[in-house]
Amino acid sequence: MRGIVAVKASEEKTSAERAGQIEAARERILTAVSDYWALTAEQPGERRRIPYAGRVYDREELVNLVDSALEFWLTGGRYTREFEQALAEYLDLPFCAFVNSGSSANLLAFMALTDPELGERAIRRGDEVITPACAFPTTVSPIVQFGAVPVFVDIAIPSYNLDVRQLEDALSPRTKAVIAAHTLGNPFDLKAVRSFCDRHGLWLVEDNCDALGAGFVLDGTLRKTGTVGHIGTSSFYPPHHITTGEGGAVYTADPLLSQIIRSLRDWGRACACPPGVDNLCGRRFDGQYGTLPRGYDHKYTYSRFGYNLKATDLQAAIGVAQLKKLPDFVEARNRNYQTLRAGLSHLEDRLEFSVCHPDARPSWFGFPITCRVPGGRDRIVRSLEAAGVQTRMLFAGNLIRHPCFDGMRASGTGFRVVSDLPETERAVSDTFWLGVYPGLTAGELSYMLEQTEKAVLRL
Ligand SMILES: Cc1ncc(COP(=O)(O)O)c(C=O)c1O
Repeated sequence: MRGIVAVKASEEKTSAERAGQIEAARERILTAVSDYWALTAEQPGERRRIPYAGRVYDREELVNLVDSALEFWLTGGRYTREFEQALAEYLDLPFCAFVNSGSSANLLAFMALTDPELGERAIRRGDEVITPACAFPTTVSPIVQFGAVPVFVDIAIPSYNLDVRQLEDALSPRTKAVIAAHTLGNPFDLKAVRSFCDRHGLWLVEDNCDALGAGFVLDGTLRKTGTVGHIGTSSFYPPHHITTGEGGAVYTADPLLSQIIRSLRDWGRACACPPGVDNLCGRRFDGQYGTLPRGYDHKYTYSRFGYNLKATDLQAAIGVAQLKKLPDFVEARNRNYQTLRAGLSHLEDRLEFSVCHPDARPSWFGFPITCRVPGGRDRIVRSLEAAGVQTRMLFAGNLIRHPCFDGMRASGTGFRVVSDLPETERAVSDTFWLGVYPGLTAGELSYMLEQTEKAVLRL
């Protein structure tokens, strides 16, 4: 007996020693990573070109990433749980699912609304979804892919958001949802859109990919964009407010929608166990599903035709560090926006600047400009690009004019358009935007102002 106790004690000592050695090795590696960051971090004034956006990170992101790599869990694990929870808390919502891109987030948001569990409110093939024509393609792709009908409304310049005055015209007996983005971080009129949706029993999906951290005052309460509609989506691709490399999130306050979103994300399965966990509910082998034999493994039971759109713990590890910086990022973006706005105000006779709804609290993704001088936009953009200042168009401009719409345009089927979209067309020819991301230095912003003024005065 005494022998067994002695062996056990020595085993415990060995495993404690090993754990201590592992922890010490981990500490050495992470300290070296932190030192590496200090040596390699970009120095101000080092770059030749001013990007419109980019990753802003420090040692914490790098240390978390390597920490996760050492753990080698790879798929969703502790960092994923932490990131989902922290993002849900930030948004003041109960449910948030981390996914592998903003496009995947939009796909899940849309497909969740087609789920038969939603009964009469489920979107079916041939049903209509109202959305602006000036958009990012993957806000609209899931609608077309599923066989629902996008109904395009115009945008309104200078908000660059969907023109809420066209919503009633867009409505038909088959309308089931409104899906729209908060353009470049400027919240659309959530009061008008939400009350339109409520009046007509429609779903509202907020594509919040370019607006994380923005808000809107509704009934006296400041609400984060992405949380007023039934589902909100985010992208964490590097130019966005925070990054995980590739990555995105879908969030909702609705427990049923959350369950559908997770199921669709995770192969369409019925079971809610996270990766690596079995039998969380304790009834793994007790149920009756479909026409399967009673007790068939719930973990391998599929309630939906799903996908695998999960992201990895490596990405979530970066997200955990990025999320802590988000409030500062939003402040810096808004400050940079104001610097550009003030510095260009004397050019207002030639340039039109954006305007926000009085109840909107933007979290600027970019600084949109519409040139009032015909043909002037392209000359300004070429001049800025030649001077090393990166510019961007307002995403797809008019989505319907893109090659992906060739077939539908030719046949005139599969979509509807409300009005001739004059403002969307104006955006196609006259609008561009400049960066406001937190990585811009005061010197770079001055240079951007100087070069923009130079180009505009040459028109
Ligand atoms: C409004 C909007 N929605 C969706 C997306 C897609 O996000 P991702 O690139 O992560 O797929 C983007 C991308 O920039 C976007 O701007």
